[in-house]
Amino acid sequence: MVSTFHPVESENSGLGYLPNSNHTPTNSPNQELLPLTAKINNGDALEIGGCDVPSLVKQFGSPLYILDEETLRTACRQYKQAMERYYPGQSQVLYASKAWSCLALCAIAHSEGLGIDVVSGGELYTAIAAGVTPDKLYLHGNNKSVSELNYAIASNCTIVVDNWQELHNLVTINAPTRIMLRLTPGIECHTHEYIRTGHLDSKFGFDPNQLDEVFAFVSQQECLNFVGFHAHIGSQIFERQPHQDLGAVMVQWIKKAAKYSLKISELNVGGGLGIRYTESDDPPSIDEWVQTICHGVKDACIAENLPLPKLLCEPGRSLVGSACITAYTIGSSKVIPEIRTYIAVDGGMSDNPRPITYQSVYRAVVANKMSAPITQTVTVAGKHCESGDIVIKNATLPTTNPGDILVVMATGAYNYSMASNYNRLPRPAAVLVNKGEANLILQRETYQDLIRQDRLPERLSS
Ligand code: LLP
Repeated sequence: MVSTFHPVESENSGLGYLPNSNHTPTNSPNQELLPLTAKINNGDALEIGGCDVPSLVKQFGSPLYILDEETLRTACRQYKQAMERYYPGQSQVLYASKAWSCLALCAIAHSEGLGIDVVSGGELYTAIAAGVTPDKLYLHGNNKSVSELNYAIASNCTIVVDNWQELHNLVTINAPTRIMLRLTPGIECHTHEYIRTGHLDSKFGFDPNQLDEVFAFVSQQECLNFVGFHAHIGSQIFERQPHQDLGAVMVQWIKKAAKYSLKISELNVGGGLGIRYTESDDPPSIDEWVQTICHGVKDACIAENLPLPKLLCEPGRSLVGSACITAYTIGSSKVIPEIRTYIAVDGGMSDNPRPITYQSVYRAVVANKMSAPITQTVTVAGKHCESGDIVIKNATLPTTNPGDILVVMATGAYNYSMASNYNRLPRPAAVLVNKGEANLILQRETYQDLIRQDRLPERLSS
C-alpha cells in the first residue's frame, strides 16, 4: 500500500511530515513543499516520480538532485492554461532559465510550448543546444558583451535592452535586431533586498524618467525593431498587488511611446511568484498570480482605450523550485551539550548556496524512515570549511544515524544554477524521475573534471 502525505504541524515537535495529514494539496506545485508525486512506500521510504529515493542514492550517489518531471510539466501547463484563460490568444510563457539552466530543463519547457529567457551567452547556448527556436528566445542582462550581442543577433533571438551603452553597441553593430526595452518600474515589494529589482535604485533597466530621450533615440534607429517593454519587480514574492500595479505602470509606457510613433505590441511582466519553502509560506497559486498580471494589464489597457498587447511572463522559481529535492547522506555529528547538535551531510553551500547567501530556510525529511517519530532538533551542517555552511538551522527530525538519507525540499530553483566547486567538491548529479524511471540529466563531476581547466606553468611541470 502506498500513502500520500503532506507536511503538518506535529504536536510535540513543531513540524513533522506525516502520512495522511489534513493538509489539502492544492495541485499548484508552488504551494507544496514536495513534488506532486511524493509518496511513502511500503519500505517507509520517500518515493518521488515512482522512484524510491534511498535506492536512487544507492544508484547515483549523493548529493543528488531529484527532479520530478510530472511536477515540472504540471507547473508549465498551469502557467500556459491560466494565460490562455485570462488573456486568450495572445500570450507566451517563458522559462527564466537562470533558475536552472541545463539541456533537459530547456527541452522540457520547450516541449510544453514555453519560450526561454536567458541572461548570458552560456544560457543562450544551452537553450539553442536544447532545440529552442529563436522566436521563443529572449536575451536579458545588464551588461551584455558585444560578443554576446552578436551571438544573440546571429541566433535571431529578441534582445531585452537594459541600458544606454547597450543601445549604442547595437547601433554600432547595425544589424536588424528585434528588441524590447527593460525599464525600472519603481515598484517596491517585500522580498530579500538582493532579489528585489523593481525599485528605482536598481542596477537593472532604464530609468523611466529618461523615457523621452530613449524613445527619441530608438525611433531614429533603422536597425532596431522595437516591439515592447519588459519589467521584473523581484523574486519570491507573495503579494499580488505589486504585480497588479505593474500592468498599469507598463501601459503608461505604451501610451508615451505612441507620442514618438513607436507602436508597442508586447509587454513582458517578468517573473517573481514565490514558492513554499516552509509550512508557513503561503504564496498565491500559479493560477491566481497569472490572473493578477493579466487583469493588471487588461484593466489598464481598457482604461486607456488601448488595444491589448501580446503578454509575456517569465517565471523561474515557481516552475522548477518545488519539482526538485536534494538527497544527501548523513555522516558525522557533534553534540555540544545544552547548546546544539550538529549533523553533517555530504554537500552544503556548494550545491545550495541560498542559506548562506539569503538566509533562506529549508525543510527536510529523512527519506529512509518517513514515519519515524520526530525526536530531535538539530542543525544540519554542510561539509565545507566555512562556519556559515549550514543547510538548516534547528531542523526537527527523527533520530538519525550515519548513512541515513536526508532530503531537503524545494531545491529546484537557484541551487544547481548557483552551485560552485568550493573546496573542490564536484558538482552533484541530477536525475529526472517519472513513472518509476530515473534518467541522469546532469552527470556528477569527477575529480578529473575539477582540474580540467587547470594548467601548470611550464617551468613547474618538468
Ligand atoms: N526575469 C528576470 C528579468 C529576472 O531577473 C528573474 C529573476 C526572473 C525573470 C525569474 O524570477 P523568478 O520567477 O524565479 O522569481 N538567486 C536568487 C533569485 C534571483 C532572481 C533573479 N532574477 C534566489 O536564489 O532567490
